[in-house]
Amino acid sequence: MDHFINPDRITETFAYCLKSGLIKPDDDTSIVFYDFDQLKQKTKLLKQAFPENTLHTSAVKANPLIKVLEKVKDFNLGAEVASEGELRLVIKTGFSNDNIVFDSPAKTFQELEFALRNNIRINSDSFMELDRISKIKETLSSNSKIGLRINPQVGYGSIEATSVAGEYSKFGIPLKNHLNEILDYFLKYNWLSGIHMHIGSQGCNADLLINGFELGLKLIKEINQSIKNQDRKLEFIDIGGGLPVSYHHNLTPPDIKDYGNRIKNMFGLYELGNMQLITEFGRFLHANSGFILSKVEYAKHYNESNTIIIHSGADILLRECLNPGNWFHEFSVLNKEGKVKKSINTKKYHIAGPLCFANDIVARNVELPQVDEGDYIVIHDTGAYTFGMWSKYLSRPFPKVIGFDNSNYKIIRNRESFDEIIKFWT
Ligand SMILES: Cc1ncc(COP(=O)(O)O)c(C=O)c1O
Repeated sequence: MDHFINPDRITETFAYCLKSGLIKPDDDTSIVFYDFDQLKQKTKLLKQAFPENTLHTSAVKANPLIKVLEKVKDFNLGAEVASEGELRLVIKTGFSNDNIVFDSPAKTFQELEFALRNNIRINSDSFMELDRISKIKETLSSNSKIGLRINPQVGYGSIEATSVAGEYSKFGIPLKNHLNEILDYFLKYNWLSGIHMHIGSQGCNADLLINGFELGLKLIKEINQSIKNQDRKLEFIDIGGGLPVSYHHNLTPPDIKDYGNRIKNMFGLYELGNMQLITEFGRFLHANSGFILSKVEYAKHYNESNTIIIHSGADILLRECLNPGNWFHEFSVLNKEGKVKKSINTKKYHIAGPLCFANDIVARNVELPQVDEGDYIVIHDTGAYTFGMWSKYLSRPFPKVIGFDNSNYKIIRNRESFDEIIKFWT
């Protein structure tokens, strides 16, 4: 089964954008595309898989484009933010405050005060942060729901860099040796009303995610028992994101429906009444909804290697270049007119970016049909954690972004101008 947007669909998109002038081939050497229909479909699957009263948020870090956030909001999803910048983005987009979840291990006093004043849900990353919140709450009244992020310490997934629930993690409170303190804090602060966890992003299989969830439910039972005399119960469990997607057309990722069923069954077993579930998926919603087209500037053939230089490298595919082996995309080749190149006479190519360092290489030894100067490389499945990690190194302009659904195509972000670049460094 294909997970990425079909190459024929890409050809059609490219041809339309060329003809209508949305793409200017001399200037637009790299273009980001985003398919709103895919997002709609993923949203539908997500909502069907979970209990109806679940608050599903989209992790803004995965895809912070305002036009994408607007769709996320229109599809009745909330937003998970991890910095004041992201918080301001979603406020500007018009998300209602009770649909925003503010995570981050580095919230300042000012950021906490702003969130509390605006009744935005906060997941506190530490006891110290809870103490800050308590101090601020003495000075203002707030309806913010406050949760505590715990690290259930269930183990690492296959990608260490994105696994955050091992024995050690920079996030949350390690559960194993701090249970008593956690219980004390829930007794001390009667406004503390939920648990937050996030196991990892990509590389964590559904069993690992479910094991973490179960530890969270067990903890809630213990907390509820401990705060019983205060005549209250916890109100929410936020399970973070982390459901893996497939970057290989022939590999099947965990099924959201099965995952949702397992969550529902486990939830049922713990009889927690009408406690609310919150999710923060990023990759699941966005990864397969995007692709990048990058022009082949040069094709270099030496005895021992074929290297194509394209206009997308570690500036937009940071993890893929700096941590190869863990991150993967499939590639297709289009000719100047946008037709998919197919050939039985393939060659192995290194696909190199435009930046000035040796490992600015998106992928090595990729089997492709003959690639020529002026062709375009399609990098599939780039809707999450690509342009969101944009690097300013070498001061190259952020590419134009084209969003589409059905057969409507629109520039949803212009290519960065050189004036904007100069302003950034001034
Ligand atoms: C706290 C938190 N929530 C949600 C996410 C989204 O994870 P994913 O995109 O894998 O669903 C992340 C990603 O790192 C995260 O750190």
